[in-house]
Amino acid sequence: MTATATATATATVSGPSAVSADAPAATGSWSPGSWRTRTAAQQPDWPDPEALARVESTLAFQPPLVLPDEIMGLRGALAGVAAGEGFLLQAGDCAERFASCTEDGIRSKLRVILQVAVVLTYGSGLPVVKVGRIAGQFGKPRSRPTETVGGEELPVYRGDIVNAPEFTAEARRPDADRLLRGYQHSSAALNVLRALTLGGYADLGQAHAWNQEFVRRSAAGQRYESAADDISRALRFMTACGVDPRALSALQRIQLYTSHEALLPPYEEALTRYDERRRTWFGTSAHMLWIGDRTRDPDGAHVELLSGLGNPVGVKVGPGTTPQGLRALCERLDPDREPGRLVLITRLGAGRSADLLPPLLRAVRSAGHLPVWACDPMHGNTFVSDSGYKTRRLSDVTAEVAEFFAVHREEGTHPGGIHLELTGDDVTECLGGDLEEILDGQLGTRYETACDPRLNAVQSLELAFRVGDLLRSQHSV
Ligand code: PEP
Ligand code: CO
Repeated sequence: MTATATATATATVSGPSAVSADAPAATGSWSPGSWRTRTAAQQPDWPDPEALARVESTLAFQPPLVLPDEIMGLRGALAGVAAGEGFLLQAGDCAERFASCTEDGIRSKLRVILQVAVVLTYGSGLPVVKVGRIAGQFGKPRSRPTETVGGEELPVYRGDIVNAPEFTAEARRPDADRLLRGYQHSSAALNVLRALTLGGYADLGQAHAWNQEFVRRSAAGQRYESAADDISRALRFMTACGVDPRALSALQRIQLYTSHEALLPPYEEALTRYDERRRTWFGTSAHMLWIGDRTRDPDGAHVELLSGLGNPVGVKVGPGTTPQGLRALCERLDPDREPGRLVLITRLGAGRSADLLPPLLRAVRSAGHLPVWACDPMHGNTFVSDSGYKTRRLSDVTAEVAEFFAVHREEGTHPGGIHLELTGDDVTECLGGDLEEILDGQLGTRYETACDPRLNAVQSLELAFRVGDLLRSQHSV
């Protein structure tokens, strides 16, 4: 769809936060379609541009998945984190699958996010802002545009919102209808998430119930049980003092925000809406959108698109990022220096933060930005094991997090969050872990990811306790 077509669409939501696709551009030369004059890296070669245009027009008339008031709620929470008064947990699948968008699948992801969040809150005493890689994390950047098997070359799998993973020409053909299915699955997932988080499942009094049997057998699971015991005791204490925890909505329900990589500008543009009240454009496909390490060119299409939106914007910061490059990105995305507007997610790899991180922190700080600094200890630590599986060692993941905390302590900046690929299921995708350590020969037992290896529920808890300890020591100085 052209920018003109978007501007003539009139999808409107009534109510206090009315949004519409029909409004003027918010700033200078930016418009929801201005990214089209830039180069967009990592795009599928859509075989039928007319089908794509039809889908974009259809999406432009759909209701927003999230509303500006919620997005601004997250902006406020992240401003608090940037100021050192909170911690961001961003976590979920590497690549969500349409087929896993079931009540069970969503409940299982929510459960492990809740467990990790409780451990972090309990360990640090800080409010934890919870953002899922969920309800829209369907598109994947890839290292090569094609894949060759047995002499046959086909387009690479780019996530369920583009094509299917099976190695056939039919499955790998990018299909614009999948953008619509992506919207529909996001909507269905959000619906269940809202019901679960508001309807009692996230009640702190349920903390024991989130611990699954296979987790309870592990050392981390046992430590979780004892934390949950402490929480139950605290709740009973409150009751005894005459405060009814069931009357406190903050203990009964949580706010889980959604996020995904804004990989496909046509999809994001079609879901961009104008908030009349704030005179601001918002991406309404998720509360937070991020730009991947492969698409963060300051002059590229992805940065252009997100630069005009009011959402919090994440940027993955890989080892190839220079201090000057990062400053240029911050200038493009946060020209007004708004605390918490940016979440800079460093993913440098274990052993590299001591050298690479300080110049980046200084460059951003001296330019006057106050981002949330988060650590993604996953994407710099991926390798192919002897048995041929793409994997990560929990020890590398833990090491990168510890290094992240150490550098921030040294530099006097706030280690504001972690960004994890995890699942509540008992998968065998990452190596290591307490008691039930996963070895290379066991990776094939339950290797289920559609893209990168995820921490299973036990490994996630083990890491959460480690991060909780680090946070506690950081704040006790
Ligand atoms: C991801 O988060 O799944 C990802 C691809 O990360 P990065 O852009 O940091 O490589
Ligand atoms: Co990944």
